[in-house]
Amino acid sequence: KWPEKIIIKEVGPRDGLQNEKRIVPTDVKIDWINALSNTGLSYIEATSFVNPKWIPQLGDAMEVVKGIERNPDVTYAALVPNKRGLESALEANIDEVSVFMSASESHNQNNINKSIADTYPVLREVIEEAIRNGKTVRGYVSTVFGCPYEGDVPFEQALRVCDQLFDYGIHELSLGDTIGVASPMQVEQFLEVALKRYDKSKVALHFHDTRGMALANIVKSLEYGIVTFDASLGGLGGCPYAPGASGNVATDDLVHMLDKMGIETGIDAEKLMQASLIIQNSLQTPLPSHQMAVFNAS
Ligand code: HMG
Ligand code: MG
Repeated sequence: KWPEKIIIKEVGPRDGLQNEKRIVPTDVKIDWINALSNTGLSYIEATSFVNPKWIPQLGDAMEVVKGIERNPDVTYAALVPNKRGLESALEANIDEVSVFMSASESHNQNNINKSIADTYPVLREVIEEAIRNGKTVRGYVSTVFGCPYEGDVPFEQALRVCDQLFDYGIHELSLGDTIGVASPMQVEQFLEVALKRYDKSKVALHFHDTRGMALANIVKSLEYGIVTFDASLGGLGGCPYAPGASGNVATDDLVHMLDKMGIETGIDAEKLMQASLIIQNSLQTPLPSHQMAVFNAS
C-alpha cells in the first residue's frame, strides 16, 4: 500500500529562517547546512535570492551558498523570484532553481508584488534562462488549499497555475498548503484531479502544520503514491506574507513517522537531532517539533 522510499526536501534554511524574527548569523547557517548535508538528506533548499528588503533574514544568500561545503550527494536549491535573483543564483552556482507564485490573486500580490497575469512572463523567463544554463527548475504553487486573504481557492484556479509552470519547463511541482488549512479529505479531492493531469513522480506536497494536520495530510498523500515531501527541521517556518502561517511539517517528526511505518528515507535520525541542536542553540528557543519537545524534556 505504501511507497517504499520517500524523498524529503529540507526547506528549513529557507522557509524556516525567513519567518524567524531573529536573524541567524551567516556562519551558523553555514554550520547548520553543513550538518544537514551529512544526515542523509538528498535535497536542501539553502536560501532565497529575493529582495533583502522583503526578507532581511536571507539577505546573506550569496555568502551562505558560497560558504557551505557541497556534498555531491545533495542537491542545493534556492528560491528565485525574477531575473535579478536568477543572476545571483547562477553566480552562486546553485544546483536547482525554485520559482514560486500563488494560486490566489491577493496572496500573489502580497508576496511578490504582482498580479498572477504579470507573474507568468517573469517566471517563464527565469525558467527558460535557468534551463539554458543547465539548471533544473522546481515550481511552487502557494495557497492551493486556502488563502489567508481569500479563503477557499477553487481547484481549477490552482491547476491553471500548475499547468502554466509545467508548460514553461519545471520538472517538479510543489503544492503549498501555505497556511496549514488542508484536511486529508481536501488532499484526496485535490489529488484525485491533479494526478489525472500530472505524473505523481513530479508532484511534491508542501504542508505547513499550522493546525496540526500536516502528518495526516502526508499519510493521505502517501496513499496516492506521492513520494516527495517538503519539511523543515524542528518545524521552523512560515510565510511572512501569509498572516498566521506557522512552520512546515517538521523533518524530524516526518522521519520518525516514516521510520515507524517501515518506509525508507535514507536519513539518520540521530544526525538530524544533532543538526537541530545547532539551530535551536542559535535561536535560543525550543524548536516546535514533537521530537524536539521529547528531547528537550529528557
Ligand atoms: P518589487 O519591489 O516589486 O521589485 O519586489 P522590483 O522589481 O520593483 O525592484 C525593487 C527593488 O528590489 C530594486 O532595488 C531591485 O533591484 C530589488 P532598488 O532599485 O529599489 O534598490 N530587487 C532585488 N534585489 C535582490 N534580489 C532580487 C531582487 N529583485 C528586485 N531578486 C520581489 C518584487 C519579487 C523581488 C519582492 O516582492 C520579493 O523579494 N518577494 C519575496 C517574497 C518572499 O520571499 N516570500 C516568501 C517566500 S514564498 C513562500 O514562503 C511560500 C512557499 O514556502 C510555498 C508555500 O508555503 O506555499 C514557497
Ligand atoms: Mg512554505
